[in-house]
Order: sequence, then structure tokens, then C-alpha cells
Amino acid sequence: MNIAVIGTGYVGLVVGSCFAESGNDVVCVDNNAEKIAKLEKGIIPIYEPGLPDLIERNVRDGRLSFSKDLRAAVQRSKVIFIAVGTPTTASGAADLSAVYAVASAIGKAMDGYKVVVTKSTVPVGTADAVRNLIQKETDQPFDVVSNPEFLKQGAAVEDFMRPDRIVVGCDNPKPAEILRELYAPFVRTGSPIMVSDIRTAEMVKYAANAFLAARISFMNEISNLCEAVGADVDLVRKGLAADARIGHAFLFPGVGYGGSCFPKDTRALIQTGREHSTPMRILEAVEAVNNDQARRFVDRVVRHFDGNIQGKRFGVWGLAFKPRTNDMRDAPAITIINHLLDKGAAISAYDPEAMDEGKRIFGSRIEFAPNNYECVVGSDALLLLTEWQAFRNPNFERIKDVMRRPVIFDGRNIFEARHLADLGFTYYGIGRK
Ligand SMILES: NC(=O)c1ccc[n+]([C@@H]2O[C@H](COP(=O)([O-])OP(=O)(O)OC[C@H]3O[C@@H](n4cnc5c(N)ncnc54)[C@H](O)[C@@H]3O)[C@@H](O)[C@H]2O)c1
Repeated sequence: MNIAVIGTGYVGLVVGSCFAESGNDVVCVDNNAEKIAKLEKGIIPIYEPGLPDLIERNVRDGRLSFSKDLRAAVQRSKVIFIAVGTPTTASGAADLSAVYAVASAIGKAMDGYKVVVTKSTVPVGTADAVRNLIQKETDQPFDVVSNPEFLKQGAAVEDFMRPDRIVVGCDNPKPAEILRELYAPFVRTGSPIMVSDIRTAEMVKYAANAFLAARISFMNEISNLCEAVGADVDLVRKGLAADARIGHAFLFPGVGYGGSCFPKDTRALIQTGREHSTPMRILEAVEAVNNDQARRFVDRVVRHFDGNIQGKRFGVWGLAFKPRTNDMRDAPAITIINHLLDKGAAISAYDPEAMDEGKRIFGSRIEFAPNNYECVVGSDALLLLTEWQAFRNPNFERIKDVMRRPVIFDGRNIFEARHLADLGFTYYGIGRK
């Protein structure tokens, strides 16, 4: 099938290259000329495991290409995925300007029947607006489908290749059949393709992200209470996770969730609730707890230094919002580092993949170390903010030797508290005894 994917970000690139991998002819379009130029030269602008190989193979075999020309891409394609960004506006609602601009441009370019698929995460009712915008521009026949994406960064290719489910929202059977055909190679192990009306499909995505964010905030709040009452959240978490009704995922306490999805999608759902006089009270609490979590972490650091961190030097391990990505959108590290800088601290940071992003965000306000050991040279504490695999088992003797003081604030509970105490470190975890 000939496919166009509009927006070559974390989602669009993965979607486009995975559809190419299953034999389709895919053109990935973006209005960022620099991005397209890089992709045409074989430079992948993001870090996503497995993606470079996939892109290289499919470009070489002629099934995948990149272009700035939306019009040509639409005209050669039967199915057009809209995968542009939907960031937060000042009110908390999703900014749909890119989705709408693309919808109008698709309408203007149409020269025959097309299936236009909203892949971006968009509030309920957006597909109707997309349909209206296209309708204004064309007499050609088309269908609009909502097909939200559930991949997670860091395992995006794997998730797309082996999805838990595919959700297709449409208002007639024809586009559903086309998407069934497209997704058939990815659901051979029996994952369901769930077909619903459009609004329900749009809602599924928000409900899923809101629920996952709620689990994290719930666990963070429990970890705060554990600290207050002298309980150990590690065992509490395991006790919950062993219950088959609860399961283990998204129960790790830490410095709060971040990234390009949970914060903006919870805000957008809260906003949708307000617009429909149905306050999302649980989600408002989820967001408030999350916003507090980074501040609590900073408070703990400041408390350790008797209320004054002026002139203190901290080595920060991890900038990305989670491991296996270079993405720093809404990363807790940004909030935490900014608070520490405001209070007069100096920061040296290291991240295996997000150094360029970090430099773009902080510029010369912080130092960037070439590795995690250099990062803590002369520091008054090590702050672990992203649980990269490479940080899990470091040489603590070496760390202790180069630090000014042996203090660790473990924002992800990845270290063994007792082991560190034996080595002479002062250790702070989240909700641990
Ligand atoms: N990142 C994730 O893990 C994830 C997972 C599921 C769903 N989503 C959703 O998918 C959507 C895209 O997310 P992302 O992380 O890939 O965003 P992104 O910012 O990485 O990519 C968006 C791309 O769209 C391009 N773009 C913007 N306006 C355009 C226009 N008018 N024409 C052509 N291209 C344009 C941008 O240049 C950018 O390359 C969002 O709605 C997001 O919520 C993201």
C-alpha cells in the first residue's frame, strides 16, 4: 500500500519505518527542512533503539523515503497518517494548530479517495474537526479514522511491531478494512484490532495515559507516606505488584513522570473535562502530586545541607525523562536542575544520549561531563535522575574517591541502600527506610 506519514518525530519515524518494513511504500513528510535533509543523508535526528537499522534497510530497499512535499506525498498515497506534535497550550489544552494545518493541506492536495488517519494524540472531537477542514478544501471522497498510537519511547519499534492492541475509530466499514489489512502483519500473535466509533477511539488513548500517570502518582504519594511513617516503599511496591489484579508496571516511585505524553495528555484530559463540565478530580490530583515530586526531591537535597546549597556542586546522572531515549520534553531533570541553580548550586551533568538536548536547554548554565565518573569529580552529592542501565552498577569506590562528600540522592531507587552505607555513603532514596 502507498502510505504517507506527516510528521517525522518519535512517532512518525517509527510508524513510517515499521509500515515500510512490512512491505508498504512509505513517504515520511515533515515541514522541518533541516530534519528532512538529515534523514535524506541517513542521519537519524532522535535516539530510539532499533530505529537506525530499520530506516537504513527500508531506504536502501526503496520502500521508505523522506520529503518536505506534502502535496506529492498525499497524491501518491492511499492512507495518510497525521503524526505531528500536539503540545500543551497555556490553558493546558492540546495545541492542535499543526494537526489542523496538515488537515487543510491534505484537503487541498487530494486527487482521489484517501483515508486520513489521526495518529497524533488528539482530544475527543478532533477527527470531526479534521473532517470539516478537509471537506472545505475538496470534493474528493475520503474517510477520517482515529488510530491512536500506544508505543513507548525507548521500546517504540518493538511496541509497534508487537502491539498489545490496535484501536481504530471510524464511522464506516471501508477504512476499517483498509487499516485491518495494513495492521495484519503486526497482530499475527493474536493482539486484537478494536474497531469503534471515532470519539471512543480518541478517548481510549487519553484514558490509557491518564491511568498510567495515575499509577505513578499514586505510588509517589504512597512513597511519601512511607517516609513519614517509617515504612519501606520497596516492599510495599512488591506487595502490590504480586497481586494479579494490580500487576507490576508503572509502580516505581521516583522524581515524577515526564516526557512528551503523560504531562501534556493528563493536562489535556483535565481541560476536556472542564469544557464538558465533568471535572477530572482524580487527574487533577495526579498532576498536583507529580508537580510536587520534583520539588520534594530538591527539598531533601537542601535539607541535607542545612537549608543552604549556595556554592555546592552536584553531579547529575541522567537528563532524559526516562532511559533509552534522548527526549527531555518535560523531564523532571529540567525542573530539578533549575531549582538547584536558583538556589545557587553548580551542576555537572551526564546522560548517555541526551547531552545535545541538555546543551540546547541549559546552554552554559551547567557543565556537561564526558562520562558519569567525571561528572561527580569534586561534587558534594550525586543526584541520580534517570535510571539508565549503565548507572545501575557503577564503581562506587571510584566515585567516592573523586567526590568531595560521599552523598547520593537516588531519585529512582536503583541503588542498594545497605551496600552504599557499608561503603561509607550517605544515601537518600524515595520512600525507603
Ligand atoms: N512520543 C511518544 O512516545 C508518543 C506516543 C504515542 C503518541 N504520541 C503522540 O504522537 C504525536 C507526535 O508525537 P512525537 O513525539 O512524535 O512529536 P515530535 O515533536 O517528535 O514530532 C512531530 C513532528 O511533526 C512535525 N510537524 C509539525 N508541524 C508540521 C506540519 N505542519 N507539517 C509537517 N510536519 C510537521 C515536526 O517538525 C516534528 O518533526 C503527538 O500527538 C503525541 O502526543 C507520542
